Amino acid sequence: MRVITTVEEMKALSHEARRGAVFTMGALHEGHAQLMRECRQLIGADGLLVVSIFVNPTQFGDASDLENYPRTLDADIALCERNGVDVVFAPSVEEMMPADVVLPQFSAGELGTVLEGKSRPGHFDAVATVVHRLITITEPDVSCFGEKDFQQVVVVRQMVADAQLDVNIVGVPTVRETDGLAMSSRNVHLSAEERRIASVISRSLAAAASVASSGADAAIAAGLEVLSSEPAVVVDYFDIRGTDLGEAPTTGEARALVAVTLGGVRLIDNAPLTLGLVR
Ligand code: PAJ
Repeated sequence: MRVITTVEEMKALSHEARRGAVFTMGALHEGHAQLMRECRQLIGADGLLVVSIFVNPTQFGDASDLENYPRTLDADIALCERNGVDVVFAPSVEEMMPADVVLPQFSAGELGTVLEGKSRPGHFDAVATVVHRLITITEPDVSCFGEKDFQQVVVVRQMVADAQLDVNIVGVPTVRETDGLAMSSRNVHLSAEERRIASVISRSLAAAASVASSGADAAIAAGLEVLSSEPAVVVDYFDIRGTDLGEAPTTGEARALVAVTLGGVRLIDNAPLTLGLVR
């Protein structure tokens, strides 16, 4: 496995093999490892699997959030090695965003202003912009993204279509702890008690899915009721939308999405559900 830190070296890699890319901000866990395995499946044993590790400063609204973001490069490199990665691309901020170069900027548009975008203005514009840069540097045929960040997948797909990039974006189902909590680099900030409470989030999604045949309103009510059983959980939103994050259909495939704060830690999750009567 090679560790590359410059854009020049990354671009100089030979083009022959089919390429897969997984983009991360490090603090790697089993969720990230699953993306690597999925990507390997898609490109085959001969393919070149690239994992980027870059904590993108522009997508953090809060300076303290950026400062507190866990940085575990040595352990991350070891996890990549264990998961059959060929190249780790770990550039500096200066390398990714040189002060003397104007890089193409992307907007997530309307999609960037709802759900996560509502409490994190500019976040998805920054994500679309950095993912565009990462794709142009690593030139993958396929890139895997976690459905854990469902809105991010929709934003990235939109950017790829707008920029007419030739890359297949693949969404990978969320990897969970045994009690259902979605794996996240932020989970380390939870106390033992908060960690126990946090399983209520995935249970709220399951409750919504279980009554989804009665419609979106019933599903939202069921989800909120489960969340209200834990007073420490402060709900930001619990919403049901179409799979493109537009308005929820009356019947058919939809997505339940939730964001809460628990002990000052913001946690998000989502799950598929089928609205209306299914015969
Ligand atoms: P990061 O939060 O490190 O996540 C990297 C990738 O891992 C994303 O595609 C994310 O959805 C996926 N992931 C995280 N937890 C997961 C889980 N429990 N199950 C499955 N996949 C999971 O998302 C980002 O970084 C950044 O926004 C990035 C795309 C790298 C741009 O800076």
